[in-house]
Amino acid sequence: MSFIKTDLHSLNFNPFERIDGGCLITAGTIDDFNTMTISWGFTGIMWTKDVFNTVIRPNRYTYEFAKKHDIFTVSFLSGDDAKKTLAYCGSHSGRDVDKCKETGLTPVPIDGGVTFSQASLVFVCKKVYMKEMDIDAISPDCRKYLGSDPVHTEFIGEIIGCYTA
Ligand SMILES: Cc1cc2nc3c(=O)[nH]c(=O)nc-3n(C[C@H](O)[C@H](O)[C@H](O)COP(=O)(O)O)c2cc1C
Repeated sequence: MSFIKTDLHSLNFNPFERIDGGCLITAGTIDDFNTMTISWGFTGIMWTKDVFNTVIRPNRYTYEFAKKHDIFTVSFLSGDDAKKTLAYCGSHSGRDVDKCKETGLTPVPIDGGVTFSQASLVFVCKKVYMKEMDIDAISPDCRKYLGSDPVHTEFIGEIIGCYTA
């Protein structure tokens, strides 16, 4: 699978549909990465830059990689197995299993980060902000979604590469 570098601003991309449908956040390098499913996040403009904002709880294995590495990718999958793969990567930890082996995901290095041959759209992001969310600053109607896991850390990445398959 080869990826085509694409102008981000020319994309026909509905973030509400695409992010809500689930995608993979993959942090690290081809030699040292982990991936997990997200369906919360947003994209837009910050500090004049095109950015993707994702929230990762600190008990996720992926958090450790997002913390120590500068690059993370956002990969939107296509194909018959996409739903199954997202469900698996969102319910198993890379601490316990090899997600690539179990799902058939094929890692591909991209701009210093990692995506998968099964992706049809990839944002390569350079971390520009990382901060634990302040529970007290979250409105009560949103706080109810926190559950018992530790509060999310927000990661903002400058989108330095956009690729389509
Ligand atoms: C549809 C879906 C969306 C998810 N969204 C997030 C999210 O936005 N942030 C987060 O921290 N965890 C999210 N998760 C949970 C992680 O994907 C899950 O805990 C995963 O097993 C973590 O893997 P890891 O320990 O290998 O990082 C989501 C799970 C699913 C199924």
